[in-house]
Amino acid sequence: MEPTMLLLLVLAAPITALAPAAGAAERTPTVVFILAGQSNMGGRGGATVGGKWDGYVPPECAPSPRTLRLSPALQWEEAREPLHAGVDVGNVLGVGPGMPFAHAVLRSNRLPKGSEVGLVPCAQGGTPIANWTRGTDLYDRMLTRARAAGTAKIAAMLWFQGETDTIKKEDALAYAGRMEAMVRDVRQDLAIPNLLVIQVGIATGQGKFVDLVRKAQLEVKLPNLKYVDAKGLPIANDFTHLTTQAQVRLGAMLADAYLAATLH
Ligand SMILES: *[C@@H]1O[C@H](CO)[C@@H](O)[C@H](O)[C@H]1NC(C)=O
Repeated sequence: MEPTMLLLLVLAAPITALAPAAGAAERTPTVVFILAGQSNMGGRGGATVGGKWDGYVPPECAPSPRTLRLSPALQWEEAREPLHAGVDVGNVLGVGPGMPFAHAVLRSNRLPKGSEVGLVPCAQGGTPIANWTRGTDLYDRMLTRARAAGTAKIAAMLWFQGETDTIKKEDALAYAGRMEAMVRDVRQDLAIPNLLVIQVGIATGQGKFVDLVRKAQLEVKLPNLKYVDAKGLPIANDFTHLTTQAQVRLGAMLADAYLAATLH
């Protein structure tokens, strides 16, 4: 080969090697969390008045280069509020617990240096747990998204749901059994038999059986299932949704539960 030809090849190589990476600019997180449930997981903080979000993003919910989200099109991108945009469809979205959770986990310095948190929003407002049983659209969507995120990296599933199951007494009574089945199925289908699940005790309900669902949530008997109680956190004037500040606090509580569960 001519020396000039060789020189050209050497010069050209790095350019072609870098081109696809620079174009796609896709980063991948080191640790991944599934966020599922209904509206209080989807996030309505600041979005309960006048049919629109007030746009207020507290520092604990601000975008950060170390926090990614899996987009509706299954691509990693920098996460920002509203985190469930394009996922919790047909609803006015605001602040939820996901961003403050990620901030609190990163702040703890418990992850290896340089780690990036990946959030996989899957919540859908107004859905009873019957909409999340194996084979339903929401269950399948969650599994598709979790697999696209990379099951080897999934550290926990955060679950905040049950408000709709307070409407009918039979749903409230069936809640514990349905939750147990759902968690067992998710663990089996993702092949993560010991997947950590952090369940949020509901603070409000769309019906009158709130206490029955709360009791059922405490009766769920499964290994590696943690409980965080939202009751007592500030609720918006719609009597249903956590305020932005409440979501900031819930995010920190979820992070504490995650960190406590993974303390060695
Ligand atoms: C929830 O389940 C009901 C009854 O099967 C169904 O009609 C509805 O479309 C479901 N909603 C969602 C969001 O999956």
